[in-house]
Amino acid sequence: MCGIFAYTGKKDAAKVLLNGLVSLEYRGYDSAGIYLPESGSIKSAGAVDRLKKKIPKTGFTGKSGVAHLRWATHGEPTELNAHPHADCDGDIWVVHNGIIENFRELKEKLIKAGHTFKSDTDTEVLAHLIEEHMKNEKTFEEATLAALNEIRGTYGAAIQYRQDPERIIAARMGSPVVLGVGKGERFIASDPSPIVPHTKQVVFLEDGEVAVITPDSHTIYKLDSTQVKRPTLEIDWSAEEAQKGGYEHFMLKEIMEGPEVIRNTLRGRLIPEKGLAKLGGLESVADELKKIDRIIIVACGTASYAALVGEHMLEEYAEIPVEVELGSEFRYRKPVVNERTAVLGISQSGETLDTLEAIREGKRRGALTLGIVNTVGSTIARETDAGVYNHAGPEVSVASTKAFLSQLTALALLTIFLGRTRKMSAKAGKEIARELLALPEKIERILENRAAIERLAKKYVKAQDFLFIGRKYNYPIAFEGAIKLKEVSYIHAEGCGAGEMKHGPIAMIDENFPTMAIATKDSVYEKMLSNIQEIKARKGKVIAVATEGDTEIGKIADDILYVPKTIEVLSPILNVIPLQLFAYYFAKEKGLNVDRPRNLAKSVTVE
Ligand code: F6R
Repeated sequence: MCGIFAYTGKKDAAKVLLNGLVSLEYRGYDSAGIYLPESGSIKSAGAVDRLKKKIPKTGFTGKSGVAHLRWATHGEPTELNAHPHADCDGDIWVVHNGIIENFRELKEKLIKAGHTFKSDTDTEVLAHLIEEHMKNEKTFEEATLAALNEIRGTYGAAIQYRQDPERIIAARMGSPVVLGVGKGERFIASDPSPIVPHTKQVVFLEDGEVAVITPDSHTIYKLDSTQVKRPTLEIDWSAEEAQKGGYEHFMLKEIMEGPEVIRNTLRGRLIPEKGLAKLGGLESVADELKKIDRIIIVACGTASYAALVGEHMLEEYAEIPVEVELGSEFRYRKPVVNERTAVLGISQSGETLDTLEAIREGKRRGALTLGIVNTVGSTIARETDAGVYNHAGPEVSVASTKAFLSQLTALALLTIFLGRTRKMSAKAGKEIARELLALPEKIERILENRAAIERLAKKYVKAQDFLFIGRKYNYPIAFEGAIKLKEVSYIHAEGCGAGEMKHGPIAMIDENFPTMAIATKDSVYEKMLSNIQEIKARKGKVIAVATEGDTEIGKIADDILYVPKTIEVLSPILNVIPLQLFAYYFAKEKGLNVDRPRNLAKSVTVE
């Protein structure tokens, strides 16, 4: 969840590190800190801006250093708990993303050995542990390896020793670490975004690996000290891709990217004239896929709502039994899984710990593991047997929007891919393929109408509660509409299957409790109309998401957001867009920090 960044080279390290932290801010931002061996450390509660203000105009210089953005797990988000953390003498400095599970017992031992702790964090233990090992004549590298072998838990860490400022050690266990390889400079970061302005050559560390960098070298070891040879990879992200591109917020920019995202997810993967899909990432497991008789999709949050839509798609067209499980639940159950089960993880970041652990649990139980992942080289992408990349580009806003569209699109591709090797007809395959290709243009039409959605958000902005209802394919979209609104605007919003309303939620409805009803023309349209009537009878206000040309719904709904017509199986991809825009404009109208909602982080790499 936190972001780490380290630099060693010839440039002004403070400038490099502070700029890098800004591009990592989406990972967490409740405190920040920087350490340069030549100048010392500066920390601050809050985001990078506050840290920048504390940096003196002159005198804070150096050619190497480590920096950090924190999203609190152990200890309050205060300046005291901000990283980097040091040993007793201020010689060893650590930035860390993850949780050291045995920190309490280690801390007790170290206190007995005479160490003095300054913070409440688990991280500080690592600095003191290295210090303790260095007392026994070990070098910085040897002591760090020894300490890493003693800690349990997760870490993506960078460690620097004041007396050897050019050298930085990185270590990875469960939290991502990427190495940047430039000319006469090296970087360590939680993801490539702060590295790409400097170099596109990177090396992803694996769990249990340690890297030692100097400006002109990098060496990778395993925890048992054996050396690992790994070539650098060239990544195709530009630094500009992670910028806002002229929009006020990343969230709006990313919603506006919808048409392009769908094109990118589909590119080269459809053979529309045959009604087939080609998924290169699944070719290596083609034989295993023929044998599976059940799919369990594991995911969290928004990705889990994409998974629920996928369940409908795969069961209806590929006729494979599908279950959807939250990663955080699946990993602690005793699920019935065997070698004929595929466990499919869906994750934008590819780092969500609960999803990752659910996949690992599936693997332990003999399942074929698959991923639908956006972030290339992420842990889920690397640990699954095979998978489909989203190609949605970096998603910076904490609220997931474009990745969700891409996840739904990838699931539609998977449905054709698996369905056509089973009972799905060429006719059905062709129809879905044709409609998929038509989606970008239809999304553009919805986006062109965003001023109307903004007006509506302004009209309802005083509401303190919102209900979202839908049925069948759009039942998960009701949940997605609600999570989007609550996470960016902090008001109470609930998603509900429209048929479930009468079993409880309808009791909340009155003239101050509006409902967003997803009521496009599909097989459950009439039922949705009845549900809207039930709300109107209780004086509830209703905004309907309806199909262009539907005049009937205007007679009962208070307001309407029109979307173009498509086939039912793909309707969630269009219907979610007005809900994303509504949440965006609602939060903007309230003057909230849309891209960085309080208490949330983009990538949830802790339980
Ligand atoms: C909501 C949101 C989260 C994520 C969830 C999973 O807008 O962004 O609910 O969907 O944390 O994240 P990934 O997809 O990275 O596994």
